[in-house]
Amino acid sequence: MTTEPILSRNFDRPAARTLAGYRETGGYGAWARAQEMEPAAILEAVKASNLRGLGGAGFPTGMKWSFIPKGHAGPVYLVVNADEGEPGTFKDRYLLERDPHALIEGMLIAARAIRSALGFVYIRGEYVQPWRVFDAAVREAYDAGLLGRGLDVIVHRGAGAYICGEETGLISSLEGKKGWPKVKPPFPAIKGAFGQPTIVNNVETLCCVPHIVARGAAWFAGLGTKTQGGTRMYSVSGRVRRPGVYETSVSITLRQLIELAGGVAGTGRLKAVVPGGGSAPILTADEIDVTMDVDGLKAAGSMIGSAGVVVMDESVSIPEALLVLARFYAHESCGQCTPCRESTGWIYRMVHRIVDGHGRKEDLDTILDVARRGAGTTICAFYDGAVGPYISYIEKFRAEFEALIPK
Ligand SMILES: Cc1cc2nc3c(=O)[nH]c(=O)nc-3n(C[C@H](O)[C@H](O)[C@H](O)COP(=O)(O)O)c2cc1C
Ligand code: SF4
Repeated sequence: MTTEPILSRNFDRPAARTLAGYRETGGYGAWARAQEMEPAAILEAVKASNLRGLGGAGFPTGMKWSFIPKGHAGPVYLVVNADEGEPGTFKDRYLLERDPHALIEGMLIAARAIRSALGFVYIRGEYVQPWRVFDAAVREAYDAGLLGRGLDVIVHRGAGAYICGEETGLISSLEGKKGWPKVKPPFPAIKGAFGQPTIVNNVETLCCVPHIVARGAAWFAGLGTKTQGGTRMYSVSGRVRRPGVYETSVSITLRQLIELAGGVAGTGRLKAVVPGGGSAPILTADEIDVTMDVDGLKAAGSMIGSAGVVVMDESVSIPEALLVLARFYAHESCGQCTPCRESTGWIYRMVHRIVDGHGRKEDLDTILDVARRGAGTTICAFYDGAVGPYISYIEKFRAEFEALIPK
């Protein structure tokens, strides 16, 4: 398992934020190489690398790029998802703040592969410093002639809605409309921003691309598991001794990752872990011998999502943890779909009264019933993301909820 920092190699070098500093360690070398390659060859390399989207869904990146209709006469857009709203996730922030040119280089190469001349970077509104650093790097890249000669980049700031991280909600917002998700299909690669074929990729996904071009698809694929290449940046928070962003192979297990972050803090005894951001079903202390790749977490009944790992020691109240999440989902639902709009509010109110000591006997089964009925019926995956925690927290820690309900 690799311990070589790849995506995070410049994190401790403040100079890397500048073009000169980035170039010192070979920055933009991959772009020079990619310019000698046919777009189809870049796409094939990304396919062979087994790179899978690191924003949440884990979709194979090369395959997504290949969906752009061949011979499309109009513009093709590249959209970078830098919204990073998933609870417990803060790795894209590190990339934007500490290695902004890596993203620009990834965008240049991706844009060549999909034949795009215009890229958008949609940055979470609260990310003021990451936006400042990244925007300065874009200006520098323009001054150096890296941008503006084949690829233009527009940096767009969001206004703080979680749903604008969902790719079609993001596109609506980019188009100047309310950030409402759209029904798929058509998928953005066919009909995306402003009605044109659009590739939406996460910040970290695109930061992997220069390394694939520079060091080869086979090398990248070999860093990970059979079905997912590369390393990944895990945001580790909660009750660990050294919270932070850890880059490691996707073949690491959750147990090893917690150890890497210094082990369990607080009581020192693990109760539960959220392995992939707020929307991932929770795992108990007995379920942490799982590999932290897309398929490993899927097999364990959870998901790697955005790789936001939240560790809970024995002193953490699971009902209170669910209350925080339930409030978040009730607040952030965009309201287009009845099951999502109504159920998130009902469930929040029921969890609230349970935690307050006024829960009713039937509340837990009502929450499970309401959650299950709505799953798979909505426009976007937001609601399915909320259902995972509702069900798993209650099913795995039911006694803790019951203890709060008056007999
Ligand atoms: C409710 C919701 C919120 C999302 N938020 C983000 C986000 O903040 N950042 C992100 O990259 N992807 C987010 N996604 C996933 C995106 O829809 C999309 O799959 C991703 O940007 C594609 O990039 P990738 O293939 O490089 O992972 C979200 C999805 C949902 C359903
Ligand atoms: S599932 Fe929820 S967030 Fe997604 S479109 Fe429907 S109402 Fe909006």
